[in-house]
Amino acid sequence: MSDSTSHTLAPQRRSPGFGLGLRTAHYNDFLSGPQPVDWLEIISDNFLVEGGKPLRMLDTFRRDYPMAMHGVAMSIGSAQGLNLDYLKKIKALVRRVEPMWVSDHLCWTGPSGRSLYDLYPLPYTEECARLLVDQIRQAQDVLERRLVVENVSSYLRFSASGQTEWDFLAHVAQEADCELLVDVNNIYVSSVNHGFDPLVYLRAMPRDRVRQIHLAGHANNGDHIIDTHDHPVAPEVWALYAQTCLLFGPTATMIERDDNIPPLVELLEELQQARSIAAQHGALPIELHPHAAATPWATAFVNPAPGRSINAPALDAIQNVMANAVLGPQLPEAVPAALDTPGPLPAPRGLAIYHNAYRARLAEVLADIFPKTVLYVGSDHFDELARAYVEQQAPDGGPLNGYGHRFAEHLGRVYPDHPVLRELAELEWALRSVFDAADEATWQLADIQAQGVEACLTQWPVLHPTVRFLEMRTTALAIWKAIDADEEVAPAQALEQPLPLIVWRQGLQPHFSSLDADEAGFIQALQQPGHSIERVTEQRLETQQLKDPQLLAAWLQQWWSNGFLHRSMPMTMTMIPTTAVDVPDPSRPIELAHAG
Ligand SMILES: [Fe+2]
Repeated sequence: MSDSTSHTLAPQRRSPGFGLGLRTAHYNDFLSGPQPVDWLEIISDNFLVEGGKPLRMLDTFRRDYPMAMHGVAMSIGSAQGLNLDYLKKIKALVRRVEPMWVSDHLCWTGPSGRSLYDLYPLPYTEECARLLVDQIRQAQDVLERRLVVENVSSYLRFSASGQTEWDFLAHVAQEADCELLVDVNNIYVSSVNHGFDPLVYLRAMPRDRVRQIHLAGHANNGDHIIDTHDHPVAPEVWALYAQTCLLFGPTATMIERDDNIPPLVELLEELQQARSIAAQHGALPIELHPHAAATPWATAFVNPAPGRSINAPALDAIQNVMANAVLGPQLPEAVPAALDTPGPLPAPRGLAIYHNAYRARLAEVLADIFPKTVLYVGSDHFDELARAYVEQQAPDGGPLNGYGHRFAEHLGRVYPDHPVLRELAELEWALRSVFDAADEATWQLADIQAQGVEACLTQWPVLHPTVRFLEMRTTALAIWKAIDADEEVAPAQALEQPLPLIVWRQGLQPHFSSLDADEAGFIQALQQPGHSIERVTEQRLETQQLKDPQLLAAWLQQWWSNGFLHRSMPMTMTMIPTTAVDVPDPSRPIELAHAG
């Protein structure tokens, strides 16, 4: 690892122009032809997957647009230290994307290596500043580049804070030698919630370290604002952006929209507004505000050495108080003293915002993963089920799209007499989990015709790593299909015989097929270590479980056609279809007829 002091990147003042956050809702627009955006920002965490459509789309778009990487889970202010595995994954993605810069937030996201999937504010104390400086430098050493750090919006402040957020942020940036992503909307949101002048904040930012600007919409509730990213940019934020242009000059600017996502053309109109404002305000003289490092408070700090372990009990205690208040099933009757600060948004209401947002966010994630279960039980009841699951099942810190892995079990426990719900959710989870599983080569009929069948019959592992098995004992599959076809759903019934089902991904698209019992038994036997098709065939012929070898021939034809036999050879790009105009939709898996 290099010494952080060896980073020689000069602060970047050249702006690449005006960008948008890349969202799946706009994939087809970007695939259909060039769009008038100068660059794209990706949410890094959405691409920390093994394969499938997300990475294929990423590579496709990267060929056409410069990119910035923006993360939400580095938790750079965690008193528990950095997650090195996460940083390594980000670094691997950096190698793939070769972004213009890498950003994350000046915040923490959860206690003790877990993530609560929110961007929680930090106390502005000397202790916290030291930890941030140390951890930003560690992250920069791992990433071998400067980190770009964004200010977050907030609904709470900490009684331990002895500095303003702007002085704190400017000081940390100076001492850590990082760059800044100034989110103008976040400044505005916090200025209303906490009662400060947003221009004072902007003027305190060290201009030479500002690499990027975010603009976004919010929900104004009169006496406080929630940073929802589900509205167009508000007039007050546009006005503040004009001031930002005057202060910082030409700076990469981007519209963030994360919910209630409109057609691309509407975001392009907003981006054009940003261009116009920048053109009107970007060339005027700039009076630089001195860096926070010049203040007496800041100079009291000493640069910590990279990798130095910092004992931060006070920060740790504050973060535990906050985490317990969020995770507890009920809000605490009295707001903990560490969180109780005066301001326009009283601490109890601020805490309630974080408490409720945690549950709403995870319930939304579950609704996204289990859309047909939502339709089957109704969105209100699904929300109740999801929130009960959230209370029982805190996230483990892994990717958010893995949060639903025990939801089907939960439904089974809640409704032991209605197993159809569990089976419906199991099917949806299987279809979702194969979506971004690893890319591996498969045997195709053309390979067999060209090379013969020997290698396919004798290799192990046999099955593609995306293969999942399910066993339906109810009419859950028929219900799934009826919902998918928007047809009337028949009442759930028990099946006379269990129905084996195989789920896998072919190319970018999840597939499923029912199996007869003999075929299912054969395929499942292939999962045992070292059990090639040849070996399982010999065993099953001996035991009379396979009575007719011709049946195997028919199965093989189907399996090659379906593409779920793993091919033990290095993947080459020629094996992957390169045309991506027809974007597969993970919510519309393909059913293939079973081979039996
Ligand atoms: Fe932002």
